[in-house]
Amino acid sequence: TSQNGADQPSKKELFTSSGFILAAIGSSVGLGNMWKFPYITGQHGGAAFFLLFIVCLLITGLPVLLAEMTIGRSGRRNAAGSLYQLTGNRFWGMVGLLFILTAFLIMSYYAVVAGWTLHYTVESFTGLMFGEGTDYKEKFLDFASGYLPIFWQAVTMLIAGWVIARGVSGGIEKFNKILIPSFFVILVVLMWRSLTLSGAGQGVEFFLRPDFSKLDAESALIALGHAFFSLSLGMGCMVTYGSYVNQKQSLGSATWAIGFGDMLYAFIAGLVIFPTVFSFGLEPGEGVGLAFMALPAAFSQMPLGFLFGGLFFLLLSIAALTSAVSILEVPVAYAMERWKWSRKKAAVIVSGACFVVGVPSALSVGGVLGSWQPGGKTIFDWVDFSTAYILMPFCGLIVTLFAGYAWKRAGEAAGLTGFRYRVWMFLLRVVAPAMIVLVFLYFMGVISV
Ligand code: PFF
Repeated sequence: TSQNGADQPSKKELFTSSGFILAAIGSSVGLGNMWKFPYITGQHGGAAFFLLFIVCLLITGLPVLLAEMTIGRSGRRNAAGSLYQLTGNRFWGMVGLLFILTAFLIMSYYAVVAGWTLHYTVESFTGLMFGEGTDYKEKFLDFASGYLPIFWQAVTMLIAGWVIARGVSGGIEKFNKILIPSFFVILVVLMWRSLTLSGAGQGVEFFLRPDFSKLDAESALIALGHAFFSLSLGMGCMVTYGSYVNQKQSLGSATWAIGFGDMLYAFIAGLVIFPTVFSFGLEPGEGVGLAFMALPAAFSQMPLGFLFGGLFFLLLSIAALTSAVSILEVPVAYAMERWKWSRKKAAVIVSGACFVVGVPSALSVGGVLGSWQPGGKTIFDWVDFSTAYILMPFCGLIVTLFAGYAWKRAGEAAGLTGFRYRVWMFLLRVVAPAMIVLVFLYFMGVISV
């Protein structure tokens, strides 16, 4: 029995210390860093937005990250079970189910985008993607509106399900230990490529020289929402990974390491993308299509473009897969504990269900369901919107209230005392909830800025 009164099942598999940090970085560094971050930064004024993002990471992201990991390690259960375990209160257990639902829904459409990156990797390396006079926007829309994305979505689910089925140390940890270092090497190669393009300087300047006049309240809210998404918060992922952390590991240091890792990858992603964008006269504010529609045009024009393009999409695929694994683990861990399923059974059933639920998303990006837009959004956009801007902030709020007010032993469990504890509590009780509520109200359309 632990000091929190939570009996720790002895069969609970644990990460090694370095394995945990790598897995958590693998979770946080994903499509968010490589795909979403560059285009929202492009739309909101470059460097100034990046700074804002860092501030949001520091004052709300990191405190919530620490809270999630602490809850997981002390509760030693899945995301919903941990809240219940620590308070013995059914209400918290019920609220915790929202984590599981959010993760499940995110996984359903994240796998679609991850699938696109796999398809693009193959197309680039084989050279099939590039050709004289190709319109890459059309090419993307052609692909996305067909049925092929469902195949790649299935491949993503199979890979993620397979890794999860192999367990915490033999699956998740091993997968990240191999992929994260490879990821870093590819990233550095691509950074070298993009920084040596002629005209790269303009892109670097756009990304690194702040123009604060471009910032407004909306950028702040988007930066905050993204800080959450980027750190994999608000869906029980870090609670679930936290439940596999050994008792000796310093969660405070882990928080810094993961936060720094996430920021570093976003920073390098910016240094890969903006110089390339500017060097080929593309638009940084392009939006969702930046990676899939604009960048292929740039790769097609550089020497060995198929190679660099292939590496770029491979990078995106790795980022996506290591994150996908962490998202899938949330409902899988729940199913194992709630219904006493074996890990294999849970992995198979949950992956399958997630695939089925994701199919409508896959078919709504220009596909057969594309023109069905209840409330002005496609299904894909609805799932993205309702999870990223409603469910995730809401779950984040739950975490702050739980660790800040309801559960009295958070400080002790996180290993924080004195000044550091007071700062953490202030951020967790006051700053983070206030910021989260603002984002939430804004995206719900209750307040406008
Ligand atoms: N952090 C990941 C990214 O930036 O792409 C996405 C993500 C992974 C969100 C895991 C939430 C999560 F639990």
